[in-house]
Amino acid sequence: MRVVSVSSLKGGVGKTTVTLGLASAAFAEGLRTLVIDMDPQSDASTGLDVIVGKHLNIADVLSQPRTSVIRQSIVTSGWTKSHRGTVHLLLGSPQVMRFDTPTLTKREIWRLEEILASIENDYDLVLIDCPPSLNGLTRMAWTASDQVIVVTEPGLFSVAATQRAFKAVDELRRGVSPRLKPLGVVVNRVRPQSIEHQFRINEMRELFGSLVIEPIFLERATLQQAQGAATPIHLWPGEAADETARDFTRLLGLIHREHDTARRS
Ligand SMILES: Nc1ncnc2c1ncn2[C@@H]1O[C@H](COP(=O)(O)OP(=O)(O)O)[C@@H](O)[C@H]1O
Ligand SMILES: [Mg+2]
Repeated sequence: MRVVSVSSLKGGVGKTTVTLGLASAAFAEGLRTLVIDMDPQSDASTGLDVIVGKHLNIADVLSQPRTSVIRQSIVTSGWTKSHRGTVHLLLGSPQVMRFDTPTLTKREIWRLEEILASIENDYDLVLIDCPPSLNGLTRMAWTASDQVIVVTEPGLFSVAATQRAFKAVDELRRGVSPRLKPLGVVVNRVRPQSIEHQFRINEMRELFGSLVIEPIFLERATLQQAQGAATPIHLWPGEAADETARDFTRLLGLIHREHDTARRS
């Protein structure tokens, strides 16, 4: 099982979109996937075609980390109604905010890792849609992760924000979890004609080198349409959707490669 956190310092830059795109790529590859919605905004359920009923959620799991509570907070994505596969969601909740404190005890920081250990054999891939901050929830998510993806738009503050995120990953890696690796930064919502965007992407490439992930992700209406229809991008019709789906498959390929390298070393 490989665990990947999708993070950013700002909301609205594309964390949930990248999480869903990766889940779609994993679904197409037949991987057993669990998406954990750690963002108090809890948007992942919409795209995964999940009706939030009387289930328990991530806030319940973090307060009572027992296997029975975990199982009751995991729901099946509607994606699997028409195609075979395993895509599950550990439901999000605004109540999870109470764990998003600047400091966590040692026990708290390892809590998600312990929870995931109890379902280790059930999934090939776990994707954590993180809150847009570097507080307790994100650090709990990173401590449970093998890799972190930072998502940004190519804007004025993206360089500084990405730098801060990588620094925080590095601190956590040295202080708490040596296995954690930054996969890199996904640049999202790029408009190829925008000179400003080209400038910002070049700026990031100069500073972060190979940590700037190829592919970059273009601004595509098709992504919003697929999300609105709660359909994986790999099953959405049209040329633009095909291209975007291929890019998410490439991104998943990078995750596999990094994981295999880490296992060999
Ligand atoms: N590459 C993209 N092209 C077009 N729309 C996008 C793209 N990435 C994200 N969006 C849209 O922008 C909004 C915010 O994205 P979202 O993934 O929810 O951000 P976050 O999870 O970081 O808050 C959503 O409506 C989403 O559909
Ligand atoms: Mg989101």
